[in-house]
Amino acid sequence: MSNLLQEIEAQIAGAKTATAKQNVGVVREIGDGVAKIEGLTDTMLNEMLDFGNGIVGLALNLEETEVGAIILGDYTKIKEGSEVRTTGKLLQIPVGKGLLGRVVNTLGQPVDGKGPIKETAFYPVEKIAPGIIKRRSVSQPVQTGIMAIDAMVPIGRGQRELIIGDRGTGKTTIGVDTMINQARINKAAEAAGEKDFRPIYNIYVAVGQKQSNIARVIGVLEEAGALPYTVVVVASASDSASNQYLVPFAGAAIGEWFMDNGMDALIIYDDLSKHAVAYRQVSLILKRPSGREAYPGDVFYLHSRLLERSARVGEKYGNGSLTALPIIETQAGDVSAYIPTNVISRRSSSCVGRSIRFARRFRRADQGDEASCRSYQGRLGAVPRIGCLRAVRFRPRRQDAGAARTRQAHHRNL
Ligand SMILES: Nc1ncnc2c1ncn2[C@@H]1O[C@H](COP(=O)(O)OP(=O)(O)OP(=O)(O)O)[C@@H](O)[C@H]1O
Ligand SMILES: [Mg+2]
Repeated sequence: MSNLLQEIEAQIAGAKTATAKQNVGVVREIGDGVAKIEGLTDTMLNEMLDFGNGIVGLALNLEETEVGAIILGDYTKIKEGSEVRTTGKLLQIPVGKGLLGRVVNTLGQPVDGKGPIKETAFYPVEKIAPGIIKRRSVSQPVQTGIMAIDAMVPIGRGQRELIIGDRGTGKTTIGVDTMINQARINKAAEAAGEKDFRPIYNIYVAVGQKQSNIARVIGVLEEAGALPYTVVVVASASDSASNQYLVPFAGAAIGEWFMDNGMDALIIYDDLSKHAVAYRQVSLILKRPSGREAYPGDVFYLHSRLLERSARVGEKYGNGSLTALPIIETQAGDVSAYIPTNVISRRSSSCVGRSIRFARRFRRADQGDEASCRSYQGRLGAVPRIGCLRAVRFRPRRQDAGAARTRQAHHRNL
């Protein structure tokens, strides 16, 4: 008996009364990858929320009595009434050179079955773009390997160049060819042992593309030996709208790591029209008011804060760069539609893909055939916005450029 008493006394003496504060809310409503949560206090905008079972959410709407969150992962496992906890962390993803050659999803998790990724650091998905002081003007070219572009609208490291055109006009092909060309140049310089050479790493962001198309692009990159210099970030058409909305920002974060560490990177957003549609879906479910063409009013801000993150930073800040090639799909060549005009005003110049009629010749153009080169220029209406950047034109291309421009003007007149 006395033994028992002693035991109880010992247990009472050892009892800890310390409390840990945890912020717990309850899911009130769930649907289409968007949850409304009651009872959460002190939530930050863009904070990661823990839904249990490894499911992560992102707080997007902070209202008086509830929090609207998008769910990254399998939202079908979440039920009304399930608990949600705040994590105190903004959404972040792994970044670093370990991602090269890999295919990852919005959260930076590998989806290519090649094992875990060796990350170097974590970067927030949403980041303020570098300010004016940090930037310098573009001075080095990014060679796409496509003569009409390199001669007429040369792209500089740190620039944003829009690829715009109807469906099936070869927009993705321009992006993929550019990535392959970077890999080719990188390899050649590595083989020659050039000391001052700065390689360009590629990031291909697939937003709302068909899985089969993404697999094809990865296959082409692999075959051309460009995959070891490339990170593929994927939210396919079968992923939820929330994933599709966040994936370009995740890609930008991966690119920023290269830029911040004094390297050059090229990012291709394929494509931002589908991104705007995914954002519209998320916003409508979150009951944000819709504006023109049912897109939310801040869709312009959405794309500007994304594209502003690509920059050329000054010597003092590491001399790195992030070049962006956003892709926009138009309907029947209508470049004055809402989303195309929004993105057009955010970039420095654009390449307009024309009818595919010339496609067969277009391929021969790269092999230097004079006649087909002319039709290639007709197909690619090049529209520089701030004038052609002479500084970034690759020197051997300068003499081609004048003639090419005149020929293109003639062709368009016809
Ligand atoms: N220069 C070219 N010569 C011949 N065929 C080409 C050329 N460029 C692209 N193509 C072909 O045109 C088709 C469409 O190309 P691609 O997928 O790049 O277009 P897209 O504009 O990205 O299409 P989508 O709107 O479906 O994304 C592909 O079958 C591709 O092989
Ligand atoms: Mg495409």
